[in-house]
Amino acid sequence: MLDKKRLFRELAEDYRRSHKQSEAFFNQALKCQIGGGSHNLRLFQPFPYYVAFCSGSKVNDIDGVSYIDFWQGHFGNILGHNPPVVLNSIIEFFRGGQGLASGFPGRFQKELAELILERVGAEKIRFTTSGTLATMYAIMLSKAYTGRNLVVKIGGGWHGAQPYTLKGIAALSHKDQPGLAPNPSSEVSCPDCPDLTDTQRPQRQRPALPWARRGPATWSGKSPPRPSK
Ligand SMILES: Cc1ncc(COP(=O)(O)O)c(C=O)c1O
Repeated sequence: MLDKKRLFRELAEDYRRSHKQSEAFFNQALKCQIGGGSHNLRLFQPFPYYVAFCSGSKVNDIDGVSYIDFWQGHFGNILGHNPPVVLNSIIEFFRGGQGLASGFPGRFQKELAELILERVGAEKIRFTTSGTLATMYAIMLSKAYTGRNLVVKIGGGWHGAQPYTLKGIAALSHKDQPGLAPNPSSEVSCPDCPDLTDTQRPQRQRPALPWARRGPATWSGKSPPRPSK
């Protein structure tokens, strides 16, 4: 019978022999990055390889090993890594005076919105900076719209690192992560900035904040009502 433990040990030994630079880099990265990288999924055992450059279907690591990449940026790179059509457009975009993030709405956002709406047949769009935010807003919006509170998600499914969707990712072990908020709205307190003395006041003495109750209404860009004291 196949001895899996032995097989994994031998594969890890092989991997260590061919990835000496990555191992050294990993040990350095551990000193400044939690777990040596930015996403647990990518931090496989005994240590991840570190990428030097990517092109098309290939990823090349700092040890000079080349891989065919079937993962492609969590499947976001539908044209492969650094396709010239995308690369040249980005270069042109930057040369035209656009930055990574100006912090202001620009005409390209509207053009992209129109393009996406035309493709998916939706009415309107709101861009978010991550999938995590998109799923959180979607849940808050549906709770506010339906007036219901219960959210059902498939155990073990990953929908980003936010309070609602972190619940149940460890479904197989039936153990949630420590620090997870069982009820985010009762556990998050919002003192009136800059009145920081308010943080000293016990939660039960503080009236519920109107915008906390109203939730997604504050996303409309209108100033939220101030809480009554
Ligand atoms: C289904 C799903 N939802 C949400 C997310 C979170 O996206 P992001 O990493 O952009 O925050 C992911 C990321 O892997 C995902 O796979």
